[in-house]
Amino acid sequence: MSYDVAAVRSAFPALRAGAAHFDGPGGSQVPEPVAAAVAATLTAPIANRGRTTAAERTADDVVLAARRAVADLVAGDPGGVVFGRSMTQLTYDLSRVLSASWGPGDEVVVTRLDHDANIRPWVQAAAARGATVRWAGFDPATGELAPREVGRLLTGRTRLVAVTGASNLIGTRPDVAAITALAHEAGALTYVDGVHLTAHATVDVAALGADLYACSPYKFLGPHCGCVVVAPALLETLHPDKLLPSTDAVPERFELGTLPYELLAGTTAAVDFLAGLGGPEGDRRARLEAGMAAVEAHEDRLRVRIEEELTGLPGVAVRSRARHRTPTLLLTFDGRDAADGYRFLAGRGVNAPAGSFYAVEASRHLGLGDTGGLRIGLAPYSDDEDVDRLLAGLREWLAT
Ligand SMILES: Cc1ncc(COP(=O)(O)O)c(C=O)c1O
Repeated sequence: MSYDVAAVRSAFPALRAGAAHFDGPGGSQVPEPVAAAVAATLTAPIANRGRTTAAERTADDVVLAARRAVADLVAGDPGGVVFGRSMTQLTYDLSRVLSASWGPGDEVVVTRLDHDANIRPWVQAAAARGATVRWAGFDPATGELAPREVGRLLTGRTRLVAVTGASNLIGTRPDVAAITALAHEAGALTYVDGVHLTAHATVDVAALGADLYACSPYKFLGPHCGCVVVAPALLETLHPDKLLPSTDAVPERFELGTLPYELLAGTTAAVDFLAGLGGPEGDRRARLEAGMAAVEAHEDRLRVRIEEELTGLPGVAVRSRARHRTPTLLLTFDGRDAADGYRFLAGRGVNAPAGSFYAVEASRHLGLGDTGGLRIGLAPYSDDEDVDRLLAGLREWLAT
């Protein structure tokens, strides 16, 4: 199926403001149906979840539909989809409950490729329990995180392995299935940060071997909230702190307070939008697989074009080198500050921010300190004209 980027772009009101957006890894633009679903939920008669009044049913239906949508997106179980304010908040919450049984001698493995949201909660939980943190490094020259790097850290005392599905800094997509297989052999649970990956690939949590899989709808065209997908049977074994009158049901007992119904409706609409990119055939999961494959092919073509054209620019280093990666490039410049490039491009309506984007361990490991570089992120709405503007802007800046 051919990918009609002009039709995709026409669904995004924000693009009419004229900027070329390469800032998707920080948060994507939102298509009209997502905004409409948020507004429709806010303006419908709505109450707390229940089945007695129509207003209660609206709230309940929105939540159940959003669980089904996210489950279709990542091939998970709707009964194990937990919603929250953000991936960071959910990971902190889950780190506290998962670490409740850890003690001195227990171990947790984190990687230097990860965003800090999949590092610090585990480091702090381990410190609170007297457990040990083991760090897996990646190869700064290639950007690869070898499964054996994680494997050599595993022991019979490893309780959890936290690993990213894809780096939000350099795009590396580690072999998560191989890493989680090793973790499972050692008897450890796996927590996979899918925030960056979910926006760029077809995800199947079972194929990844993710016991817990976290993602954030605002990275895949949806509203600002987070979710974690877990097998309901695993959730049943975990008992977070909760209010006395709040339900003990799963997954609700992990969702403190009232859910943002309007954002959940927007999340469903975002999943439906992505499914729509896969054409009309088949159930939503089948359309999502086709839609994400089309997005991946489109984004990859643009990434290759950018990389080829950057090769001709003197003094530009592409730090994203892994064999398997998302269309997310980190650039550094000989003798020049990436933040200046960011500001220069912004002045020309090209949004490609500079920084380390909370992947501070990865940035340091690459020898870039906390400064990072200039990040170019592609999204389903990126097109060749955006890329023309980016490359022209970079050439102009480098010539100053
Ligand atoms: C890879 C990755 N993990 C985690 C996060 C944190 O997500 P949230 O903003 O939902 O807490 C981000 C946000 O940029 C991210 O890119």
